[in-house]
Amino acid sequence: MGSTCVVGLQWGDEAKGKIVDLLCDDHDVVVRYQGGANAGHTVVHEGTTYKLSLVPTGILRPRVRAVIANGVVIHPPALLKEIATLESQGVDFKGRLLIGDRAHVILPHHLAEERLTEESASTADHLGTTRRGIGPCYRDKVGRVHGVRVADLYHPARFRERLKRIVDFKNRLLAAMLPDFEPFDDVAVAEEYLEYAERFRPFVGDATEALHDHLNAGRRLMFEGAQGSLLDVDHGSYPYVTSSNSSAVGAAPGSGVPARYIDRWIGVVKAYTTRVGGGPFPTEQDNEVGERIRRVGREYGTVTGRPRRCGWFDAVATGYSARVSGSTEIAVMLLDVLSGLDELQVAVAYERNGRTVATLPASLADLEECRPVYETLPGWSEDVTAARSWDELPEAARRYVEFLGRKVGVAASIVSVGPDRDQTIRVPRAR
Ligand code: GDP
Ligand code: IMO
Ligand code: MG
Repeated sequence: MGSTCVVGLQWGDEAKGKIVDLLCDDHDVVVRYQGGANAGHTVVHEGTTYKLSLVPTGILRPRVRAVIANGVVIHPPALLKEIATLESQGVDFKGRLLIGDRAHVILPHHLAEERLTEESASTADHLGTTRRGIGPCYRDKVGRVHGVRVADLYHPARFRERLKRIVDFKNRLLAAMLPDFEPFDDVAVAEEYLEYAERFRPFVGDATEALHDHLNAGRRLMFEGAQGSLLDVDHGSYPYVTSSNSSAVGAAPGSGVPARYIDRWIGVVKAYTTRVGGGPFPTEQDNEVGERIRRVGREYGTVTGRPRRCGWFDAVATGYSARVSGSTEIAVMLLDVLSGLDELQVAVAYERNGRTVATLPASLADLEECRPVYETLPGWSEDVTAARSWDELPEAARRYVEFLGRKVGVAASIVSVGPDRDQTIRVPRAR
């Protein structure tokens, strides 16, 4: 026991990276269990900004070990690049990173396959993905015939032979769909990936066994969710989701560690809502309020640089995802961004065709028809970025955080008032 799961409860970018980094003091191992280089987690410490994508955020703390577990999809060149960047920032990987041999590998044809739909003539088929090959790789994992795992790269003869069949299949498919398609050369791809395998060799191992060894040795694990619960392939705003279980339910299948080992389930939320890419967003503010939030919160994607869509806090969607993710507490992030707004709105229900809807509907068509029912709360004018205790926050800011906790159904334990590790407030329990 004593392990923790940190997930986003919205559509990603809730500042999970900051929370994971903060809680590293109390944990020994940080585990990524789903997603891939579509994630961009930011940590700011003493003026330096670190960007983590495939590498678990725990790598920034010398004492902590980092594990990329079976549920992650790895694009080897992206991982090599990330390791090189972090090393140039002084991060030491030796003996601290474990790449699970059951994780799946993103191959060049996955990126090409994603272009098929994301650049198709029919914009209705565009999901607005990060184009990192995530969806096609997970599709092959579930489809089984064409999936490649890290472990497969260490059997070169078999790998070359199997890749030949896979690439042949993909070339025929892609040539039929893309007029200017240059077929992939399976021999070249095999050699490229076998070279990656050699470079990764010191890091690769059985992550599931290693995690159980850590648990048996009494070490505390932290599961670092990527994306957010509303992007979960089963529980999110399908089909505008990612291709993995990005809510907390994904931690067990994505790591081989049963949920019974986890007793702290932290749901990370922004004090408002953002979304990158397509899909419904009931509380979106495509107006001055949204622009202000984007400007003050610097709401541009870490991975793709796209402007994030911004809007009010949605307690209906977030309450739903807090239930799915089993949140035992929430961390309310970027509270400082709301300073200076006279009034704040929070969606406490939806209305659809004259009827009140209390939870997130399954059907995209139904969700698109939902209009938020807002409650208005007083804002505050003070800059809160220097506040370090609950009592230093303006009364209206405290009331706002408490209101969010009540409406989501889980009280806030942490409030964040700036990107730095220090700009964090622990919320007193009895209040
Ligand atoms: P993640 O993907 O959930 O880890 O979140 P991102 O890193 O993509 O986006 C969160 C952004 O907000 C990052 O640039 C953080 O440095 C920044 N950030 C984190 N906490 C705060 C906060 O309390 N206030 C402000 N203004 N920025 C924050
Ligand atoms: P972090 O971990 C925000 C979004 C994409 C797109 C959808 C599907 O930094 O919170 P994909 O490339 O996964 O197939 O894209 O999911 N998306 C994210 N949005 N934060 C993320 O990660 C995201 N990862 C994917 O914008 O709408
Ligand atoms: Mg992010």
